[in-house]
Amino acid sequence: MTEKIVLAYSGGLDTSVAIGWIHDATGADVIACAVDVGQGGEDLEVIRQRALDCGAVEAYVADARDEFADEYCMAALQANSLYMDAYPNVSAISRPVITKHLVKAAKKFGATTVAHGCTGKGNDQVRFEVSITSLAPELKCIAPVRDLALTRDKAIEYAERKGLPIETTKHNPFSIDQNVWGRAIETGFLEDIWNEPTKDVFSYTDDPAFPPVADEVVISFERGIPVAIDGRKVSALEAIQELNRRAGAQGIGRIDIVEDRLVGIKSREVYEAPGAMTLITAHQELERVTLEREQARFKRTVSDRWTDLVYDGQWFSPLKKSLDAFIADTQRYVSGDIRMTLHGGRATVTGRRTETGLYDFHLATYDEGDTFDQGSARGFIDIYGLAAKQAAARDVAFGNGEDLDAGEGRA
Ligand code: ARG
Repeated sequence: MTEKIVLAYSGGLDTSVAIGWIHDATGADVIACAVDVGQGGEDLEVIRQRALDCGAVEAYVADARDEFADEYCMAALQANSLYMDAYPNVSAISRPVITKHLVKAAKKFGATTVAHGCTGKGNDQVRFEVSITSLAPELKCIAPVRDLALTRDKAIEYAERKGLPIETTKHNPFSIDQNVWGRAIETGFLEDIWNEPTKDVFSYTDDPAFPPVADEVVISFERGIPVAIDGRKVSALEAIQELNRRAGAQGIGRIDIVEDRLVGIKSREVYEAPGAMTLITAHQELERVTLEREQARFKRTVSDRWTDLVYDGQWFSPLKKSLDAFIADTQRYVSGDIRMTLHGGRATVTGRRTETGLYDFHLATYDEGDTFDQGSARGFIDIYGLAAKQAAARDVAFGNGEDLDAGEGRA
């Protein structure tokens, strides 16, 4: 029986050529699998037909939009996930859900191998392959661009020679990956890290320097999940989509960084994530009101680790799952409303309202109605500062006290 290979298919030049390229190199039948994670753009039915026209024996489209929003984007939101304090893990969270559907397709069609179109220099190859082996250790992986020397020039030559129904002349200078959580743009002139991104780099956001009138939005959360916008009930997917539109119009969520890849390369990355950045800003503020102080502190450590694991392709790893359980537990009281003004590239929180918060007006107020016992502060400070006081006394006794004159006479 002919071996079968499931290919992660995007509809672009590389993966279209990969169908025939893999067949020629291995003799296997290729099943193309496209996964909808809210990337927009071309109609997926058109993409499915193109895969068949390029020689796939089967072509399969999985609608993973709600699944991606509910289980992947919302997990990233609850973790306030920002790799290197900046990047909302846009591509990193899509690879595991895409892989899940590739593995499902492999089981359904009896394939032995899964193929993807990544190069050997990026994070995505790692994410796909580690996810594949985590879900189905028996499956093999190949990456035609990396393992079967499918370069761009060869792809163009192959597509023209075989008359494949795919545009080979329209060369996009950027490498783009997009889904509902955001959009990643790299390569081309962005590789000179002094170059400012030009207008054509962006598509989810308008120029924040020329914003329309300010847009006020109220986002309602239940247990760390957005459930309504301006009082209208929304699914997670709808919440992200609506905020992509509204925050995108204000130019919110543009990110331009030099990033540390897992494979050791520093690379220049431009992102647009208007919905994700707005939701993270709102969620973070609601956590400030609802999480207990020590829990909030420890959660930051957990979230950083979670974010690094996810970036590094360990979505299905045991540690990541254990951290998920911690994060889920912290969200018990993260319910309430956050009001924000979206304007000129910024999402600014202007109000919070919650029934499950820990903010107590009577403890906080400096006006009438104060219930805080200021008298007890004194004893607290005596004991809290005791260890430092003892150590300082010892320093003084041994002539090592703080030099109070240090810095004096500085020019
Ligand atoms: N550097 C980002 C990451 O590793 C984005 C990669 C996106 N891929 C692309 N072909 N532009 O998560």
